[in-house]
This record gives sequence, C-alpha cells and structure tokens, in this order.
Amino acid sequence: MRILIIGEGGRESALAAQLTKDARVTKMFFANGNASTDKYGQNVNLSAITELRDFAIKEKVDLTIVGPEAPLVAGLRDEFKKHDLKVFGPDQKVASLEGSKAFSKKFMQTYDIKTAKAVVFDSYEDAKAYIQTQEYPLVVKASGLAGGKGVVICETLEEAEATIHDFMIRRIYGDAGIRLVIEEFLQGFEASIIAFSNGENLFPCISVKDYKKAGNGDAGPNTGGMGSVAPSPEFTEEHYADFEENILKTTIKGLKAEGFSFKGIIFFGLMITKNGTYLLEYNMRFGDPETQVLMALMENKILDVINDCMNGKNIELKFKDEKAVCLVMCSGGYPRNMELGFEIVGEEKVKHSQLLYAGAVKSGDKIVSNGGRVLNIIATGATYDEARKKVYEDASHVHFDYSFYREDIGKF
Ligand code: AMP
Ligand code: GLY
Repeated sequence: MRILIIGEGGRESALAAQLTKDARVTKMFFANGNASTDKYGQNVNLSAITELRDFAIKEKVDLTIVGPEAPLVAGLRDEFKKHDLKVFGPDQKVASLEGSKAFSKKFMQTYDIKTAKAVVFDSYEDAKAYIQTQEYPLVVKASGLAGGKGVVICETLEEAEATIHDFMIRRIYGDAGIRLVIEEFLQGFEASIIAFSNGENLFPCISVKDYKKAGNGDAGPNTGGMGSVAPSPEFTEEHYADFEENILKTTIKGLKAEGFSFKGIIFFGLMITKNGTYLLEYNMRFGDPETQVLMALMENKILDVINDCMNGKNIELKFKDEKAVCLVMCSGGYPRNMELGFEIVGEEKVKHSQLLYAGAVKSGDKIVSNGGRVLNIIATGATYDEARKKVYEDASHVHFDYSFYREDIGKF
C-alpha cells in the first residue's frame, strides 16, 4: 500500500512509526512531515486540497490518513472521493461536528448526549444581554476553528463582555467568532477517548489523560498538549459506564439518525464532574499527544484497524496491560512567542524510550526545532512510575537551546 499522511506533528510520527513496521506498506508520503517522518518515507511540501488531490492521483496513493482537523473541515474527503481516492476521515458535513461548535452542540442537545448547558448566539446584542443573567465562571466559545484559542473561561461579567466584543465585533478570529456558544462552566478533570468508526459502529480505545497546561501542576496557559498518559488513572469504570450510556450510545444513535456515516476517528473530549461524565467536544481526528501513548500500547496492527474500518468490518481493539507516558519537549516561550531553528542533539542517547520528532525538521545534516512542540519521548512500563522514569531519564540527554518540558507528566 502507498499511504499519504497529512500533518506534521508527533501524532503523525507515531502513526508512521507503526505503519513503517508493516510489510504491506510499500511507500509513505507526508504532507508536510517532520524530521521523524523523513526517515519513514518522503516529506512533500503540499497544502492546498487540490495540490494534495493531484499528488495522490499522480503517486497512486491507496489511502490518505488526515492528522489535523482543518483539511477535513475544508472538505478534503469530499474532493478526494470524487476521484475515488480513499481517505480515513469524515466528509465536510460530518467534520462540522468539530468545525462548528454551534452545530455539534445542537447535535448533542438533539440526541440527549450529556453535555454542558449552552445557548448559541448570532447576535452581539442578544449575547450581551444573556451574559448579564448568568453565573460565573462562564464559558464563551467561538463556534468556528480558532486554532485552539477560541474557548475562554470568563471569571467575571467584565471578562465575558470583553470576550464577546473581541469575538463578534473586533473579530479577532475572523468568521470563526461571529457565532458563539456560551455555556455553563463544568468543574472537574478531563479525559480523552478516541474511537474508531467503521461507518456503522464506534470502537473506543482506552482512556487517555492529556496535560493541557504549559506549567507544572497545571499552571500557566493552555497548550496543544504537554504530555499524555494511558490509560488515564483518574477515569474509572464508573466514569466509563456513564460515558458509554449517556455519550457513546447516544452519539451512535445521533450519527445514524442524521445519516452521518464515516470511516475515521471520533474523539470525545470529556469533563468528569461530581455529577458524572460530560462531553465537552468532538474532534473528528486523532489527538495529539493522545495518539502517541495509544500507539505505544495498541496490540492490533494499526493498518488492520484502519483497513477493517474502511471495509465496514467490526474490530476488536486490544491494548497491552501496561502504562504509557509521553513527554512533550517544547521551544522556549511556547505557546506564546518562540524562537526556532535550534539544533537538537542527543537522540542517540535515548535508550529506554521512543523519540518522535514533531515541530522539528532536517536542515542539512542537522535536526532543528521549527515549532512549539518539538519532540516527544514515549515509554511504557508496568507502572506509571516505571514508564515515567524511562521518559525523564532519556529526556535529560536531549538538548536544544531554550527547550523546556513539564516535570510532572505521569506523576500521581
Ligand atoms: P473545547 O475546545 O470545547 O474542548 O474547549 C477547550 C478546553 O476548554 C477544554 O479542554 C476545557 O479545558 C475547557 N472547557 C471547554 N468547555 C468547558 C466547560 N463547559 N467547562 C469548563 N471548561 C471547559
Ligand atoms: N490533545 C487534544 C487534541 O488533540 O485536540
């Protein structure tokens, strides 16, 4: 099989690292890839959907796997389908479950999927009047894609007023913020569940804990993810039963009722409160850095799982009875202003873990940082502590200027 993977993060490296072990995979292309994918195949510099489509036709690509949400929301699958090109991922309509928070909230409300109470607004005046009547904190969300920055937890009415003004009048995220979802604040801890879809049914993986805040002890700004562990130690069987009954089953029912059949991923972003498990959002793609720990523990061959989904077959997911920890090493300043282009050294000293590059590229015979989340170090063990020791021991040998990482990933 000739496979094209779209994306350039650690998530795509983790998928590629598994696929490269599979004898059925004869060639992999990455648009645009990174320093790890460069070892597994060919990085190609393409971004427009039409460019990707022409490339897939020319190179006789058998399967395209889409990492990030933007190409799916922009209709990549719809365009590829016209040319009989296979894509693991939903069409534009179904991708709106991620691309439009107003659309997904309406879906959740229609099908009794357990979620935070929310109201959708298109009018600034109406939103402004509404926030006067609410309790705080209050969560204001830009409906469209805003690069992970469109959710603001407002502690006060003044903050909510400023946020809706920024989104709807100043339009700091362009059209993404002209429609808002304003919802109740849920207090609890988060968990990620990634499920495979074969077009008929959903097959969930084990739960994952993603560390979203930049600093130790969950201090500092939100990021794309500073580390992950699987399974999540906090997410109990009781939480899972709540998820299964009130989120998973109702989602499957809703997808069927709406005719939203797709072969790909649906990722449930969950908040667990004292009243049980709530759905915060759907992502219609693999998570990053969730995928890194799932691939470390998955016993199935990922290509079997994807092929079975594509062929509408049922799958039985199996995971090792171990713990996995992934540490994300970042550029100084991430997620704000960063300086990039520093040489990364020490890969050869990584002995107990897997090192996957993310925001890092080859430059001559060196590997240099070129993104916020530069590389991932992943290990497994019988306990979280065992996996965590391997990761931190190996991380201590990898260097680039101004790098930083959290010290508390997998520490419980
Ligand atoms: P979302 O993109 O909707 O998942 O929101 C991004 C992040 O904002 C989530 O991962 C949570 O940390 C936080 N968040 C979103 N909605 C809520 C809510 N209703 N209550 C508390 N935190 C939330
Ligand atoms: N780690 C969260 C995400 O991939 O959206």
